[in-house]
Amino acid sequence: MTLTVRPVVGRRAKISALGTYVPPDVITNQDLEKLVDTSDQWIRERTGIRERHVLAKGLGVSDMCAEAARRCLAARGMEPGEVEVIVVGTVTPDMMFPATACLVQDKIGARGAWGFDVSAGCSGFVFALQAGVKLVESGAHARVLVIGSDANTRMTDYTDRATCVLFGDGAGAVLIEPAAEGEIGFIDFVHEVDGSGGPALNLKGGGSLNPSSHETVDRKMHYIYQDGPAVFKFAVRKMAEVTVKVLERNGVTGADLGCFISHQANKRIITATADRLGMDPERVIVNIEKYGNTSSGTIPLAMETAIEEGKLKKGDLVLLAAAGAGFTAGAALLRWEI
Ligand SMILES: CC(C)(COP(=O)(O)OP(=O)(O)OC[C@H]1O[C@@H](n2cnc3c(N)ncnc32)[C@H](O)[C@@H]1OP(=O)(O)O)[C@@H](O)C(=O)NCCC(=O)NCCS
Repeated sequence: MTLTVRPVVGRRAKISALGTYVPPDVITNQDLEKLVDTSDQWIRERTGIRERHVLAKGLGVSDMCAEAARRCLAARGMEPGEVEVIVVGTVTPDMMFPATACLVQDKIGARGAWGFDVSAGCSGFVFALQAGVKLVESGAHARVLVIGSDANTRMTDYTDRATCVLFGDGAGAVLIEPAAEGEIGFIDFVHEVDGSGGPALNLKGGGSLNPSSHETVDRKMHYIYQDGPAVFKFAVRKMAEVTVKVLERNGVTGADLGCFISHQANKRIITATADRLGMDPERVIVNIEKYGNTSSGTIPLAMETAIEEGKLKKGDLVLLAAAGAGFTAGAALLRWEI
């Protein structure tokens, strides 16, 4: 490895704590067999999913974000009042406005924090992460909470077998702080948008173009629309491109990585990307069987899995990558410093 640590304007930033949350209720593949014409075998073979968690009625994404944030701050031993900024990646906010970040600020009692939401489909966490990291690297802030969460089951049509098997609900939060002497933390990001992919994956109803009406409800415009094969092809191609780019331009190969923490949309997409990087499957984190696709929640939830499985340790080089609605794609290279 010839890792050349890219200089940053300002100071280096790192992840200093992690907290995650999934709601207790679960929908299994067997439950879905009773709702649509599908089978446990088809879902497992084509996606890798066995079950997914579902947010209870009366709660919103902000509740999952708040719980993940509380756990993250507790892991660091930090009071909510010390948080300076909250950045939330989500496409399933509690409501059109106010931003989820504002709701979370109030729920956790982070009185001194400002914040905002990032809408980038399943790339929401990696996009929000770069925003949070740059706020710390620039010297503008020293304690930034970056949260990724989606309540996809709220937007899922449980009569559409092509989408209802895929999605789950969950949240994860990381704290970004300045790196200490000798620490490297974040090394590089590669992010891309291809807006021409918008028609392949979207939720059309309830925005300014198609405000909510009886017609938008009748036409099922408040559910996730997805051209699965088109999204699959984009994700396989783009995940490989952004991950190879971020590794190559930093003198790193798949063999140098402690682990690869991918967005969890489909096990076949993760495997294709890992193969392209020449990664040992043992060091590729997969937890899609338990959670399904939680969009912006997948990467922090997979960080937790990596730690639980003993595959993510202080000093490891870690690659994160995601692709999703927009189309969007992103990758991050960092050294784990916890
Ligand atoms: C959705 C996805 C799992 C479908 O898998 P696929 O192998 O591409 O399957 P296809 O869509 O080509 O469908 C193949 C057949 O399975 C059927 N099928 C689709 N969903 C099914 C289900 N839940 N159970 C059983 N059969 C199903 C289709 O109707 C089709 O039948 P046909 O050949 O008779 O028309 C896959 O395309 C995918 O993962 N896409 C990306 C999803 C994603 O990442 N989304 C989030 C953004 S990050």
